[in-house]
Amino acid sequence: MPFRTIIEPFQIHSVQAINFSTPEERRAALERSGYNPFMLHADEVIIDLLTDSGTGAMSAQQWARLMNGDESYAGSRSYYRFRDVVKDLTGFAEVIPTHQGRAAERILFSTVMSPGDVVPNNTHFDTTRANVEYTGAQALDLVIAEGREPAVEHPFKGNIDIPALERALDDAGTDRVPFVMVTVTNNSGGGQPVSMANLRAVREVCDRYDVPFYLDACRFAENAWFIKQREDGFADRTPREIAKEMFSLADGCTFSAKKDGLANIGGFLALNDSEVAARCRNLLILTEGFPTYGGLAGRDLEAIAQGLDEVLDEHYLQYRVNSVWYLAHNWEVDRYEPVKS
Ligand SMILES: Cc1ncc(COP(=O)(O)O)c(C=O)c1O
Repeated sequence: MPFRTIIEPFQIHSVQAINFSTPEERRAALERSGYNPFMLHADEVIIDLLTDSGTGAMSAQQWARLMNGDESYAGSRSYYRFRDVVKDLTGFAEVIPTHQGRAAERILFSTVMSPGDVVPNNTHFDTTRANVEYTGAQALDLVIAEGREPAVEHPFKGNIDIPALERALDDAGTDRVPFVMVTVTNNSGGGQPVSMANLRAVREVCDRYDVPFYLDACRFAENAWFIKQREDGFADRTPREIAKEMFSLADGCTFSAKKDGLANIGGFLALNDSEVAARCRNLLILTEGFPTYGGLAGRDLEAIAQGLDEVLDEHYLQYRVNSVWYLAHNWEVDRYEPVKS
């Protein structure tokens, strides 16, 4: 008898009650909101599928770290812990905390982009596209053809189309391309993963054209897990080793900690170019806060630092990806593949 149950690799430590609305109340709420789920009150919703962003439960260790938050305005010890965790994971020299991923995008894009520029990506997330377009630049989505076909099976449907990327660089001219971006996993394309081979190919193209390469790294840990499961040569590597290799191929990243930071708020910009980082920090001070907190409380920095460590736990990643697999295949029990161990 195949093993059909996914055992959660955690104990549920506390729960939060949800409000049970009646069908009539829900109908009235939907009419009042103009059928726009963003306009509902959360208490009117029983199963909330609006977003995965910042809605997860934090771990006991994350809650414990909150109590260690150092709220000093400048030079807080929580910042240094956060910085060291991000540096160790990503290898990037400069780490700039921000209140969300979109703040990291706005600060980087306003610093390096000009009207008329072109930014290739596998698929821009909506805030990423909006921040590119706000600078007067053009956001180009270049995901492979398979990534545009929901019914087509392919292990890495988030891959960027390399010949299309080369054509875009030839057409725009490299002085009009401030960087190439790849989103891992490709959220606006169904959360599909990007292979290491594809990231290596992007690195090679960026070196050839002398253009920087940034990751939108919101789901870096899940992407690392898919590489481990699906790409030859990675089965024996840990998700942390794979994630480090992914980051080592890029020059920097934007990051929303509300996904694979396992936190309810936060983000960062990390990069190697110290001159760009200095200009970004000036803008950060203007709109987010001092560079050692960037709009976050010290306790948020603690929660993110802890989350970035815990998200790479193999049992957790296996549980997360297999839960989705189970949801997708449960309607057809015969197709269900038992959890690999
Ligand atoms: C791929 C991707 N990039 C950027 C963002 C923006 O992050 P935030 O919501 O923290 O501003 C998100 C948020 O969902 C995302 O999924």
